[in-house]
Amino acid sequence: SQETIQTEAARVREAADAIAAKIESKPEIGLILGSGLGVLADSLQNPVTMNYGDIPHFPVSTVEGHAGELAVGDVSGRRVVVMKGRFHLYEGYDVTRVALPIRVMKALGVRTLIVTNAAGGINAAFAPGDLMVIRDHLNMMFRNPLIGPNDPEVGVRFPDMSEAYSKRLRAIAHEAAAELGMKLQEGVYVGLLGPSYETPAEIRMLRTLGGDAVGMSTVPEVIAARHAGIEVLGISCISNMAAGMLDQPLSHEEVMETTERVKAEFLKLVELLIGR
Ligand code: 6GU
Repeated sequence: SQETIQTEAARVREAADAIAAKIESKPEIGLILGSGLGVLADSLQNPVTMNYGDIPHFPVSTVEGHAGELAVGDVSGRRVVVMKGRFHLYEGYDVTRVALPIRVMKALGVRTLIVTNAAGGINAAFAPGDLMVIRDHLNMMFRNPLIGPNDPEVGVRFPDMSEAYSKRLRAIAHEAAAELGMKLQEGVYVGLLGPSYETPAEIRMLRTLGGDAVGMSTVPEVIAARHAGIEVLGISCISNMAAGMLDQPLSHEEVMETTERVKAEFLKLVELLIGR
């Protein structure tokens, strides 16, 4: 209904106003840092930081390895708003809540979004520690942040998803990686609800369906961003191989260890491509 649209628009405006009041100039690039990748926030120049708890209507994230902070600052001479820690459906948040920060970024003037995550490798050619540019996704969360009345001020009722992950930005990412002499995979990200990891049978199914990496985030944010006309680049850190691929159990500790090991490389890549 009209009222629901206005309520959501008012929440977005209140959150954006609270952030705008603390910063001197508005960000043009949004950056969402996944599990263990929060270090990127430490390399911000002239940062202004706010706890999610101090931003109206922002949920507070609960997972270990996901601090709840929003920071605005400069990276490679560009003004960036960084989410250190994101909201996951498995935490129990409604999908519209998960997408709220994207709408807030849009209200702040963001035109480009870089989403990062830790993901399990499904493609046998991948190895833990690889970085993967997301070419496309499979929404196997079967949730959509756009369900409900559509706000035409934000975007159209039936948004196109044929280039959810910008070809232009993927090319820039590959150029930046080549310049750094870094291997950069490309593939399809599968978004699942979690929080349990998949069974080996599920991983075989996802591979058959065309998935290269699997995780528990990103898809709702990207749908909300595309709806709002934001250009998206997605990068997964392959933190481990998915279930059944190696003769070993999966653990969040392994995810954190791998992201810890590759974060410096990851940071260099993101810094270079933001400059581009
Ligand atoms: Cl193997 N699965 C899912 N769903 N998320 C992950 C993962 C696997 N590895 C890191 N994140």
